[in-house]
Amino acid sequence: MLTPNMNYSHLKASYLFYNIAQKVKAYQAANPDAHILRLGIGDVSLPLCDAVIKGLHKAADDQANASTFNGYMPECGAPFLRKSIADYYRGRGVELGDDEVFVSSGASDELGDILDIFDSSNRSLIIEPAYPAYVDANIMAGREIVHLPSSRDNGFLPLPDEDISAELIYLCSPNNPTGAVFSKEQLKVWVDWANEHGSVILFDAAYEAFIEEEGMPHSIFEIEGARTCAIEICSLSKTAGFTGTRLGYTVIPKDLVRNGMNFNDMWVRNRTTKTNGVSYIIQRAACEVFTPEGQQQIHENINVYKNNARTLMKALDKLGIWYTGGKNAPYIWMECPNGMGSWEFFDKLLNEAQIVGTPGEGFGKCGEGYLRFSTFGSPEDTEKAAEKLLELLG
Ligand SMILES: Cc1ncc(COP(=O)(O)O)c(C=O)c1O
Repeated sequence: MLTPNMNYSHLKASYLFYNIAQKVKAYQAANPDAHILRLGIGDVSLPLCDAVIKGLHKAADDQANASTFNGYMPECGAPFLRKSIADYYRGRGVELGDDEVFVSSGASDELGDILDIFDSSNRSLIIEPAYPAYVDANIMAGREIVHLPSSRDNGFLPLPDEDISAELIYLCSPNNPTGAVFSKEQLKVWVDWANEHGSVILFDAAYEAFIEEEGMPHSIFEIEGARTCAIEICSLSKTAGFTGTRLGYTVIPKDLVRNGMNFNDMWVRNRTTKTNGVSYIIQRAACEVFTPEGQQQIHENINVYKNNARTLMKALDKLGIWYTGGKNAPYIWMECPNGMGSWEFFDKLLNEAQIVGTPGEGFGKCGEGYLRFSTFGSPEDTEKAAEKLLELLG
């Protein structure tokens, strides 16, 4: 008799965004003229930059001629894009081989798929509050999860200690939802710990392009020793507005070996079996992101979001409210005022200021008492929200 993957029965229903949508819908129905300021969304709002759009058009034309047409693309990524990405790393002083870069359709896909190359008995350590996909992908795969709560006391950037025991370690920096970023010194502690224990770090760098502070690490491979204990998963979704265009990349160093098995070789075997590569048109367009023109244009867009962050941070500073993030990330993680719970504060913001945030509790129990603001909205709405926050809480 067929048996479903019963691990799915252990998934908790995700009420977070559903509940938010329901509450917003009800408020809008009762207040049809109200303009709701949406600071909850994790999706970008600005269009693709010119360089990428030109790349898309040109690549579409290539597909119209037999002499430039491309059929199946190499499963691990087109050589031209693998080289562009490796060059991007080299430009920051990280030496990588082009064949250590794998092109993907996005970070979410990879964060779950990569579990294929680790034994199912391996436990996954997840720092909470966390991007919900880490937890769910591990539950679906029937893996044991070791939860590591973080708090204001450690700036939501916990370090390993004697009590921790896990084979896979998820690190997300800059972090979603907290916006906090590990320093090089802190990452070095994780890298040394992983090498000492034979563990592997899955480093989610989806927001690296938002780091503005000099000296903060954009990649785990800036840390000595990471080549023997880390895999990096990244995405153009937030960096270049590719949420609907889809392109990511994964770096697996050839030095990452356990029990005589080379994880780079294993991933080549996995990809050549389970995918037929990413579309030529999208890979060509993605290449434009890494050109000087593309870099300048994507950073113009990122700056719009960073200005939104500055606007919100200024208001929170004036109010004397504790928060993390904003400086090197598109998220601000604020403590709810007067000891309010996450949902209580969410309701207050919606009902009294028409602002929508994301209750921190939705990212794990230790997120209770916090709220996440996204800075991906429009500057006009963000400025209005900052004014209303000052009126409401000042
Ligand atoms: C931390 C983190 N990792 C990965 C992703 C997913 O990225 P992608 O759009 O490439 O699947 C997101 C998207 O919000 C994210 O916040």
